[in-house]
Amino acid sequence: MFKKAIVACITISILFVMSACSAFDQTFDQSNEPPSNANSESEKDGQVSENDSQQDISIPEESLQKKDKGDQVLQLQSTLNQIGYDLTENGEFDDATTWAVTDFQLQQDSLLASGIYNESTKTALKDAVENNIEIVAGSGLPQEVEPAITDSGTPVIANPYDQLVLVNKQHALPADYMPRDLVIPDVRFPFTEDLPKKQMRKEAATALEELFIAADGAGLELFAQSGFRSYERQDAIFASNSLEHGEEEANIFSARPGESEHQTGLTMDVTSPKVNFELITEFGETEEGKWIQGNAAEYGFIIRFPEGKEEITKYQYEPWHLRFVGKKAASEIMSQDITLEEYLKVSE
Ligand code: DAL
Ligand code: ZN
Repeated sequence: MFKKAIVACITISILFVMSACSAFDQTFDQSNEPPSNANSESEKDGQVSENDSQQDISIPEESLQKKDKGDQVLQLQSTLNQIGYDLTENGEFDDATTWAVTDFQLQQDSLLASGIYNESTKTALKDAVENNIEIVAGSGLPQEVEPAITDSGTPVIANPYDQLVLVNKQHALPADYMPRDLVIPDVRFPFTEDLPKKQMRKEAATALEELFIAADGAGLELFAQSGFRSYERQDAIFASNSLEHGEEEANIFSARPGESEHQTGLTMDVTSPKVNFELITEFGETEEGKWIQGNAAEYGFIIRFPEGKEEITKYQYEPWHLRFVGKKAASEIMSQDITLEEYLKVSE
């Protein structure tokens, strides 16, 4: 009986010690290693906030430009507002959106200012949002309070960098506007001197080179005659033409200073030996002129002063005057036989 009591006592003691050890293990686990479910919970937490931040920096995938509409534009406006702009989020790539994109581009050394939301702008914008880079809206391109006017009363354009800028007798460039990315395209000129008029803005120059390669491939002899002109140069040209023809007559084929697209660096007059390298309407009848009419848009160029549209452009037909607007706008303008004025007109 006494023996049985001792065995029972030892058994109870062993059970007590085992249960105490188990309790200690649990305490030890909790204090040093979180249970596996707690661990996965914390990973989940981390993932949620990472997803949140990915949503925050989601920016439009496709290239966007003036006149575009829709969710992608809305997303762009919202992203620009996140970094310091105050755009109306209306889903329309309007003048204010073009200004904000241009202003952002002008604040980034790596970007060329064009007002177009392109691949390089997308990369820079993503970087700005991810790294909380503060943009001071307007420090690249101040937003105009009141439009300035030229001496002859023409309103001055607020955003001369815009690739789709409208320059004409109603919209003048600032006298001091000088494109920052002028280069000489690697194309044929009928003269050898390195004159300023050989230059174009970089993107337009690259597009012109591609156009010339294609024209060469078609067996044509295209020559570039006159590209960039400063305000001062246009002033001298218009003064000389006015002296010879009278101001009103001159203004049918020659722009007043500030009113010439040549100052944008987005224009090149082209010609051919068949018209002795002259800039005359007969160029339109040459093989080169016809090829330009049919193919310029593929390289982002339009014939800026088309035949039959003189009432709209206020200039005579100039089959030689190519204006770079980018492929998208060029194909719409040329395929619809419209002018830049008509293309950019806000719906009435
Ligand atoms: N010939 C065009 C109109 C210009 O002078 O810019
Ligand atoms: Zn021209």
